Amino acid sequence: MPKTTVTAALPYANGPVHIGHIAGVYLPADIYVRYLRNCGREVLFICGSDEHGVPITLRARKEGITPQEVVDRYHDIIGKSFKDLGISFDIYSRTSNAVHKETAQSFFADLYQKGAFAEETTEQYFDAEAGQFLADRYIVGTCPVCANENAYGDQCEKCGSTLSPSELKNPKSALSGSAPILKPTKNWFLPLDKLQQSFLNEYISNKIDWKSNVLGQCKSWLNEGLKPRAMTRDLDWGVTLPALPGHTEGELLGKVLYVWFEAPIGYISATRELRPKDWEEWWKGDTRLVHFIGKDNIVFHCIIFPAMLHLRGDGYVLPADVPANEFLNLEGQKISTSRNWAVWLNEYLEEFPGKQDELRYVLCSIAPETKDSEFTWKDYQARVNNELVAILGNFANRVMVLSHKFYGGAAPANTPCSLDALIQGGREEAAALLEELKKATEEYRFRDGLGALMNMARLGNRFLAETEPWKLQKTDPKATETAMSFALEMLSNIAFACEPYLPHTHQKLCEQLNLLPLEYMVRAFWAEGKLLKPLPAGHPIGEAALIFTKIEDEQVTFQKEKLSLKTMENTSPTDVPADVQNAVKPEITYDDFAKLDLKIATITAAEKVEKADKLLKLTLAVGTEDRTVVSGIALHFQPEDIVGKQVLFLANLAPRKMRGIESQGMILMAEDADGKLVFVAPTAPVASGSSVS
Ligand code: MF3
Ligand code: ZN
Repeated sequence: MPKTTVTAALPYANGPVHIGHIAGVYLPADIYVRYLRNCGREVLFICGSDEHGVPITLRARKEGITPQEVVDRYHDIIGKSFKDLGISFDIYSRTSNAVHKETAQSFFADLYQKGAFAEETTEQYFDAEAGQFLADRYIVGTCPVCANENAYGDQCEKCGSTLSPSELKNPKSALSGSAPILKPTKNWFLPLDKLQQSFLNEYISNKIDWKSNVLGQCKSWLNEGLKPRAMTRDLDWGVTLPALPGHTEGELLGKVLYVWFEAPIGYISATRELRPKDWEEWWKGDTRLVHFIGKDNIVFHCIIFPAMLHLRGDGYVLPADVPANEFLNLEGQKISTSRNWAVWLNEYLEEFPGKQDELRYVLCSIAPETKDSEFTWKDYQARVNNELVAILGNFANRVMVLSHKFYGGAAPANTPCSLDALIQGGREEAAALLEELKKATEEYRFRDGLGALMNMARLGNRFLAETEPWKLQKTDPKATETAMSFALEMLSNIAFACEPYLPHTHQKLCEQLNLLPLEYMVRAFWAEGKLLKPLPAGHPIGEAALIFTKIEDEQVTFQKEKLSLKTMENTSPTDVPADVQNAVKPEITYDDFAKLDLKIATITAAEKVEKADKLLKLTLAVGTEDRTVVSGIALHFQPEDIVGKQVLFLANLAPRKMRGIESQGMILMAEDADGKLVFVAPTAPVASGSSVS
C-alpha cells in the first residue's frame, strides 16, 4: 500500500473559519484520514494558515493594524477551533514562517532556472501618491454593467460581475483615492496555454474517476483555453522573490510570489517542517497525494499546481485525487465573511460546549458533496434531536441502563438459545453495513458512510424492539442474557465504527463500555471488516451517561436572532476577541476621535424590513438632509413608537447594503447587560443635525 499525503486547503488567516469551510473541506478530510489511520495505512494530514494575499492586507487596513497582526490573531483562533472540533491534522503550519519562505523561493528559482517562465512587461495600475502598484481589489470605480460606483477591480459586489481593473470607469485607488496611472512592470508568467497542450489536457483526461463536479470545472477551463498567468505580483505582502540570475536586486524589489503559486507549496513546506528527515517520501515515489478543497479552489489544485509540480520534475508526484465539494448556504443565503453572514466555528464551540460531534454529524449529513446544500438552525435541531438523540443516543442509553439494572454492570454470557437465528441475521446485517461504511468512506461518499453508521444504531434499536429484554427478563432470564450480550456487542461495534465520523462519541462509548481500542482490533475491524466479538462474560461496564442531549427551541431562536443582528453590525464580535470586549478599548488620540462625525438626528419615518424580523428601515432628518438607516432594533421597538425621537447618529460611517437597502450611517444605542437597547438622546431637544463633540 502506498503512503497517502492528505492536504486540506490552507484557510486564509483573515477571519475565523465557518461551517461552510468545515462541511466542504475539513470534516471530509478528517473523516478520510481517520479512516485510513484506522486501516493501518500510512498517512500524513497537512494543513496550515494561508497568510498572504490581498484579503489579509485589506482587513489589516480596515482595522488599522499590520498584516502580521491580522494573521497572528486568526492563525491562533483557527488552529484552536480545528483542534477543538477534533480535526486531526498532523501539522497545522503557516505560510509566514521561514521554512515556507525557503521552500517557495527555491521552488520558484528552480522553475526559473529551467526556463519555465515567460518574462513579460505589462502595464499595471500604480498609485503615484502612495508610491505602489495596486492589486485589483485596491482599485475602485464604476461598474460597466450596473453602474455601481463602488465596484472593485476584480468584481462588482452589487451585480456579481467578474471584472478586470481596465473595465472600471473612473478608476480610483482605494489607498489614496487618487486616479491610478498605468505604469510598466516586469513579471514572470506561467505559460499555461503551452502547458495545456504539452501536459494538462492529457493529465486531466486520465482522471476519469475524479468526482464529476471537479472534472466538469476542469474541462470547462480547458475548453475555454488556458492563458498565461503571472506568478509574481507587485505587492508588499507575501514571499519575496529569490535572487534571479540576470536581474538586479532593485529590479525585483516590491515584488512577491503570487499567492496561488506559493500557498500550495505550503503543503510541502509544512511536510518539511513536520518531517525534516523523510519529508520527500511523502512527495516523491510511492505516495498518493489527495487534496481536499472547496469548489473555488479547483483550478489552482487541478491545473496550476499540477503544472508546477510537473515542471519541477525531480520525482514529485502529481495530485492523485481532488475530491472538491460545492458550497454550503446558510438560512437561504450564501455564506459571506464580509457581510458576517456565517456561523463561525469558534463561536459555535463556545456556545455549544461538548457538542462537537453534533456539529460534525449535521455538517456531514448535509455536506455539499455533489451540489450546493443548506444549513438552517431548525434543521440542525431536528437532526440532533430526531437522529443523534433518538436513534444513536437512545440505543446506547438503553443498552447501558439495562446492563446495569439486570447485571450490575457485568456483561452477561452469550449462551445458545432461541434467539440465535435472529442474532445471526443481525450480525450479517451489521457486517454488510460495515462494508458499506468502509466503501463509502473510501470513495469520499461521507454522507452515505454516515448513513450506514446510523443504520447500525437502527439495527440495534430494532433488535431491542423485537426481543424486548425488559419483558423477556421476567419470563426467560437466560435468553435475556444472550439478547443483552448481543446488544452490547452491537454497541461496541458502533463505538468502533463511529471513530472517523464522531470521534468524541467514539471516546465516550469506549469509556462507557470499558473498551480499549487496541491496535490489532482496530485494524481487523477497519482493514478486514471483521466485527468485534461479544464482550466476554463478566466484562465490567462503566457508568451509563447520556451521549447526546436535545437542542432546545430557545437555542435555535437565539442563534437565528444572533445571525440577523450580527449582519447589521459593521464589525462582528469575532473581530474582537472576547477578552477585549469586556475591557476598555485601547487608547486613541484626539485625532482618532475627531474622525467621527457625530450628530443628533430625528427619526421621521420607520418601517419593518421585509423578511428580516430584526430590522427596521429608518428615515432620519439630519439638518436639511434625509438619511436612510437600517437598524437591528425591530425586536425592541415598534416602528410607530419611535417616530419623532432624537438619536445620536454617526454620520460618516461608510454606507453598507443590508437586504438590498443602502444604510447611510448608524444610530448609536446603549445596551445593558440583558441586551436591552435604549436610545442615546440629548436631555433637551436640539435642532436635528446639531453636531456632538
Ligand atoms: N486560502 C485559500 C482559500 O481559502 C486556499 C488555499 S489552498 C492552498 O480559498 F494551499 F493551495 F493554498
Ligand atoms: Zn455591477
